[in-house]
Amino acid sequence: MRDALGDVQSVLVLGGGSEIALATVRALVARRARTVVLAARRPEELEATAQELRGAGAAVVEAVRFDADDDASEHLRLADDVFDRHGDLDLVLVTAGVLGDQAAAERDGANARAVVETNFGGLVSAIVACTERMRAQGHGALCVLSTVAAERPRRSNFVYGASKAGLDAFVQGLGDSLAGTGVNVLVVRPGFVHTRMTAGLEAAPLATTPEVVAGAILDGLARGAHTVWAPPALRYVMSVLRHVPRPIFRRLPI
Ligand SMILES: NC(=O)c1ccc[n+]([C@@H]2O[C@H](COP(=O)([O-])OP(=O)(O)OC[C@H]3O[C@@H](n4cnc5c(N)ncnc54)[C@H](OP(=O)(O)O)[C@@H]3O)[C@@H](O)[C@H]2O)c1
Repeated sequence: MRDALGDVQSVLVLGGGSEIALATVRALVARRARTVVLAARRPEELEATAQELRGAGAAVVEAVRFDADDDASEHLRLADDVFDRHGDLDLVLVTAGVLGDQAAAERDGANARAVVETNFGGLVSAIVACTERMRAQGHGALCVLSTVAAERPRRSNFVYGASKAGLDAFVQGLGDSLAGTGVNVLVVRPGFVHTRMTAGLEAAPLATTPEVVAGAILDGLARGAHTVWAPPALRYVMSVLRHVPRPIFRRLPI
C-alpha cells in the first residue's frame, strides 16, 4: 500500500535496466519506496544498481529475469512469483523496449515483426498478468512508457512508432476498463530522451533527460493522471502535428 503521504512503497519494473526506469526508481527510493524488483533480460548485470538502491534506503531490492519475447505463460509465472513473494505492489513500471533499425525493418518483415512483438505483443501479456494481480489486490498503478512517436508515427521511425501506438492504445483501453477497480493506468509520452537508446542519434527539439521523465512520472502518479508528456510542451506540439494534412506531413523533415 502507498504510505500515508500517498508515496509508492513497492515497485516492479519490467525493463529494469532502462535508464528512464533507473532514474524513476532512484526518485521513488528517495521518496521512501522500500521494495524494488527489477525484471530484466540479464538480471545478473543489475547487482551494482541493486547495491546503490539499498545504499539509498531501499530495504528489499532484487533482480529477476524477464524477457518481453517470452511466452505469455512465462509472464504469468513471473507476475505470480513476484506478487506472491512480495505481497501487494503499488506500482508496475513498464520500460522495456527497443528502437530497432528502421531502414532494415522497412524491407525485412521478420525484423519489423520482432520490433512490434517486443514493444507491443510481448509487453501486453506481461502487463495483463500484472494488472490482474493489481485488480485482485484492489489498488495499484500501472505506468507504461509510450512515446510521442506513438501519437503520429513518422516516416523516419514508423516501425517503432507503430509498435508504440499499439501499446499506447492497448494501455489506454486497459485504463478505461480498470476504472473503479482502484487500479490507475498512466501512459507516459516522452520525446527524445538522452539514454543508451538514443546514443549517437541527433537530438530532436525539446530533447530531455531521464530525470525529467522520472519527475513527470512521479508527478503523474501523485495526481492520478492518465497521461503525461515529457517535457509537457510536447503535448501541444503533438496535438498540432497530429492534425497536419498528410500532403504537408509528408514534406516535413521528420
Ligand atoms: N530514449 C528515448 O528517447 C525514449 C523516448 C520515448 C520513449 N522511450 C521509451 O522509454 C523506455 C525506456 O527507454 P530508455 O530510453 O530508458 O532506453 P534503454 O536504457 O535502452 O532501456 C530499454 C530497456 O529495454 C530493455 N529491453 C529491450 N528488449 C527487451 C526484451 N525483449 N525484454 C525485456 N527487456 C528488454 C533493455 O534491456 P537490455 O539491457 O537487456 O537491452 C533496456 O533495459 C522504452 O520503452 C522506450 O521505448 C524512450
